[in-house]
Amino acid sequence: MSSDLVDYDSLIPNNVGLADDPKLRRALEAWHPGYLDWWMTMGPDGFQMADVYLRTAISVEKDGWAKFAYVKMPEYRWGILLAPAIENRTIPCGEHLGEPVWQQIPGEYRAMLRRLIVIQGDTEPASVEQQRHLGSTAPSLYDMRNLFQVNVEEGRHLWAMVYLLQKYFGRDGREEAHELLLRQSGSVDRPRMLEAFNEETPDWLSFFMFTFFTDRDGKMQLEALAQSGFDPLSRTCRFMLAEEAHHMFVGYTGVQRIVQRTCEAMSEAGIEDPYDSEAVRRLGVIDLPTIQRKTNLHFSLTLDLFGSEESTNAANFFNAGIKGRHHEERLEDDHRLLAATYPVTKLVDGELHSIEVPALNALNARLRDDFIDDCRGGVTRWNRMIAGIGIDFEIRLPHIAFNRAIGEFSDINVSPSGDVLTEDRWNDQYGSWLPDTEDQAFIQSLMQPELDPGKFAGWIAPPTKGVHNKPEDFLYVKLP
Ligand SMILES: [Fe+2]
Ligand SMILES: [Fe+2]
Repeated sequence: MSSDLVDYDSLIPNNVGLADDPKLRRALEAWHPGYLDWWMTMGPDGFQMADVYLRTAISVEKDGWAKFAYVKMPEYRWGILLAPAIENRTIPCGEHLGEPVWQQIPGEYRAMLRRLIVIQGDTEPASVEQQRHLGSTAPSLYDMRNLFQVNVEEGRHLWAMVYLLQKYFGRDGREEAHELLLRQSGSVDRPRMLEAFNEETPDWLSFFMFTFFTDRDGKMQLEALAQSGFDPLSRTCRFMLAEEAHHMFVGYTGVQRIVQRTCEAMSEAGIEDPYDSEAVRRLGVIDLPTIQRKTNLHFSLTLDLFGSEESTNAANFFNAGIKGRHHEERLEDDHRLLAATYPVTKLVDGELHSIEVPALNALNARLRDDFIDDCRGGVTRWNRMIAGIGIDFEIRLPHIAFNRAIGEFSDINVSPSGDVLTEDRWNDQYGSWLPDTEDQAFIQSLMQPELDPGKFAGWIAPPTKGVHNKPEDFLYVKLP
């Protein structure tokens, strides 16, 4: 289809005045075919012609921002939506604290903003690429639909970042928008920018762990960018957070349902020892120690996304007022952090100690700590459910220094409980802390599709309610 046949005003649900902005329209029209190409080649493999019961964002009203209908994914209406402007909003932090927010890019911060937007933008298509083969092993149509929902919304988040690049960054922005479609997750020549987004998502436990942990990093980054003094970025991120809540839900409930099914199967079979993995696996469910090892892996990989604990870049972003802290507006301090300190765990003489450092330099560590608190809520609820079924096991988040590749702990070996280990002891033991090829092969052996409406694979419990209150046997995906 040539682009002049596309009615972009109606094709792209938007509240950014696309109809009255010919320059932006032209830029989007030029980018759109490449995006569709990318979606067809790198998006969900094998399901592009299926009718999927999807939610589409159509406005930013609190009630009714989304509508649900069957859509073929390539025909999804990826819109550009900004949360409503907050009247008289002021810059919430840094040296411009209290000044009116910017509606245009301040020249001196152009490079910094561009970098932040490109990095955020790069993660969105990356996760779609990582998850592209999962459709064919979906444990139910309900789960398949949720996967595709997350995928199309990550696609829309890419649009959101591309909108900012094209609207505010001129030619550079158009080039960056183009390159966002060229990098590829796991590619040797043109990998995605952040390492966790080059890992594979080979199975559904990995997918749920990814949406629980790694999408939650995304949420924390969006929360921090929602505080930006560059108002279009803030409004964009605030609306993205509305969608992101569903991704958190998919991850949390996905792991929860797997754990639930395992515990129920154990209890039905009268298996009391959760460490008798062989007996548990014979029931066709994922043993809890394997789930713990997957937790260790995904948690530690995700912590690396927060960058170095102490960072002058992060300090500069905050000082400039282009990235705030989680819930900056609710914090009660000077919002400049001129004299404040923050405790950061560091390696001192071979031991881990909490050391007070200038808070301005510790913003990455702080956001990471907020992230961990957020994770803990979900893990606590998983554990409550395990205890409720009468199984004696607790899923634990490993120590922040465990299995790290970036920052303070990248050169040392630390156990999940926080003991600094010699290289030898680490080599002896890490196999019991991280999933190995045998774990992976077992999980893979369970990945058989279940495509009957209302049916679920044996290793995962059904959800407590359907999407948009649909009945249990609802046909969430109509396969062609
Ligand atoms: Fe996203
Ligand atoms: Fe997400």
